[in-house]
Amino acid sequence: MKTKSVKMAAVDELMFKILSRKAEIGIIGLGYVGLPLAIAQAEAGFKVTGYEISKEKIKLLNAGKSDIDDIPDKLVKAAVEAGKLRATEKGKLVPVVMCTVRSAVGTVGEGLSAGVTDYVVKPFEMEELLERVEKALEKSRGQ
Ligand SMILES: NC(=O)c1ccc[n+]([C@@H]2O[C@H](COP(=O)([O-])OP(=O)(O)OC[C@H]3O[C@@H](n4cnc5c(N)ncnc54)[C@H](O)[C@@H]3O)[C@@H](O)[C@H]2O)c1
Repeated sequence: MKTKSVKMAAVDELMFKILSRKAEIGIIGLGYVGLPLAIAQAEAGFKVTGYEISKEKIKLLNAGKSDIDDIPDKLVKAAVEAGKLRATEKGKLVPVVMCTVRSAVGTVGEGLSAGVTDYVVKPFEMEELLERVEKALEKSRGQ
């Protein structure tokens, strides 16, 4: 097991990547929640990849068009043309660690059935999350 300082160095590195906008954001599902989030992150300067199962939606978004009433085409177009947003269905090898709420009985089982790699239940310690992310990455690299 790695030492705490190594893990905290990973947190520092992540914080640096976030603050310098070098971090890349992945969003699963570009619907009413995912698309506005993707646009907001792209506008904030991050490179965003949205993983979608709808081929139709992928085509539409990559062509700079929105299918969500509250999100005008021009916002999607600007993000796509700036190279800050792309939609893809190639997300099968992305490991997912679900952060869920203590009261959400059944959520963990649903998540695992849907294919999440692992989960933590709120409230959780940063160390625990890092441990699980590390294990999920190791698992995905071994596949
Ligand atoms: N809309 C809300 O106000 C709200 C509030 C709280 C929580 N939520 C939760 O957030 C989640 C998303 O809600 P929404 O309103 O954006 O739904 P939505 O139906 O508008 O969007 C979901 C998107 O995810 C895509 N999708 C489905 N399965 C996928 C998969 N396996 N891989 C990749 N993409 C997939 C769908 O094609 C769709 O584009 C839901 O779990 C919902 O319960 C929504």
